[in-house]
Amino acid sequence: MPIPSPRQQSRLDAQPTLATDRLAILPGDFRLGVSTAAYQIEGAANEGGRGASIWDTFAHTPGLTANGDTGDVACDHYHRWRDDLDLMADLGIRDYRLSVSWSRLQPSGTGALNPVAVAFYRSLLGGLRERGIRPLVTLYHWDLPQPLEDAGGWPVRATAERFADYAVRTIDALGDLADDWITLNEPWCSAILGYHAGAHAPGRRNWADAIAAAHHLNLAHGLAVAAIRASHPSARVGIANIVTDIRPHSDAVDDLAAAARLDAASNRVFLDPVYLGDYSEEVRNVLGSAGLDAAIRAGDLEVIAARTDFAGINHYQRVIARHDDEGGPLRVRETPAEPATTSFGWSVIPESLTAVLTRVAREFTPLPILVTENGASYHDYVDPDGDVVDLERVAYFRGYLAAVVDAVEQGADVRGYYAWSFLDNFEWAEGYGKRFGMVFVDYASQRRIPKLSAHWYQRLIAERMSQL
Ligand code: NOJ
Repeated sequence: MPIPSPRQQSRLDAQPTLATDRLAILPGDFRLGVSTAAYQIEGAANEGGRGASIWDTFAHTPGLTANGDTGDVACDHYHRWRDDLDLMADLGIRDYRLSVSWSRLQPSGTGALNPVAVAFYRSLLGGLRERGIRPLVTLYHWDLPQPLEDAGGWPVRATAERFADYAVRTIDALGDLADDWITLNEPWCSAILGYHAGAHAPGRRNWADAIAAAHHLNLAHGLAVAAIRASHPSARVGIANIVTDIRPHSDAVDDLAAAARLDAASNRVFLDPVYLGDYSEEVRNVLGSAGLDAAIRAGDLEVIAARTDFAGINHYQRVIARHDDEGGPLRVRETPAEPATTSFGWSVIPESLTAVLTRVAREFTPLPILVTENGASYHDYVDPDGDVVDLERVAYFRGYLAAVVDAVEQGADVRGYYAWSFLDNFEWAEGYGKRFGMVFVDYASQRRIPKLSAHWYQRLIAERMSQL
């Protein structure tokens, strides 16, 4: 049991969790979990019959990731998962959001699943069950099999159909070991960062492709939900969308319109069709002629609006939007909001999470909400005593969890919070330089060191358990 050392304990004593009466506001079945994703932690990129994904290709292209970092080894979780799960259990964590790798399970993006991958994930999910940890499994956390990108990727409609096929095969193979499934993680990143900004795999830069990709990702979600419902009626399914708190730079009409355009292209284009059954006028005005109208076919909107069981919300930051004619296709310049920033330069404004959750509940859906990701990167280091004293992250989690309680008090039906992330890991284009974990990973030795925030979360969970 990773009991904090006496030194860590005294630091912890100085760090309150949440006031007991605030914690008691959370609904009885509230999940306090942690989150990871396959490519960011697994490694073993060339083992077990895994095929290349767009992230292997991207990360191996010189100059595209910080330091040339790749996910080839990452946290070596593929080999160390038993120890990682033991550590999770020792910390008292009972809810874990993980992803399964499409390119490991279905290397060519089509056809029968790879039995070695199925065996791996069956062991992993079985290991969670043995330790009393409930999985929430994401089917797609950005690792599109490279052959599907070679055939056109997300801008091509057939990719959505391929995804539904992969989803249903995967749930057929693993569905007895997990009840809760997420179709896609942050399709905004896949579409906009991947096909417009070129900052994420596959690194393309074409606005129309990005908008077509957005629609096809929405469609992929809807097709997968229908296919999963047909073969596994008892599975609970949702999608995890990033919802950013976008504020105008000023009350000037131009800035208000800029903020609305950014909201349409980042939040609404994914929330509208899933929860409201159609793209709103705002979204159609901003993206219709950019490729959205051309991508939509008869019947798509009904498919995308398939009933889900919960709304997954990832939240990281507030951004400020101002009108700028030079600001790309949206004519928007974005800046991070103050006052504080993480090592990513992202704002730390817990009220933003309250605003996002109450907005989703008010404007989009009465479904139970799961905060499927929230967290921060800081310049963590092992001190001479061997400890990682991440006081900023403790304060971050305390502030954002209090913001969740506020949202619940204001009527949002929030049922869980999955901290990003359990382990430090491969932070996409930023490589290993950005550490989001509550457990420090020394990549040279693969040693894990629970940070102060892990012990803080451990104590929070224990306090919560004692209330039930
Ligand atoms: C969202 C993504 O889902 C996750 O993979 C990433 O590491 C975090 N944001 C932090 O950037």
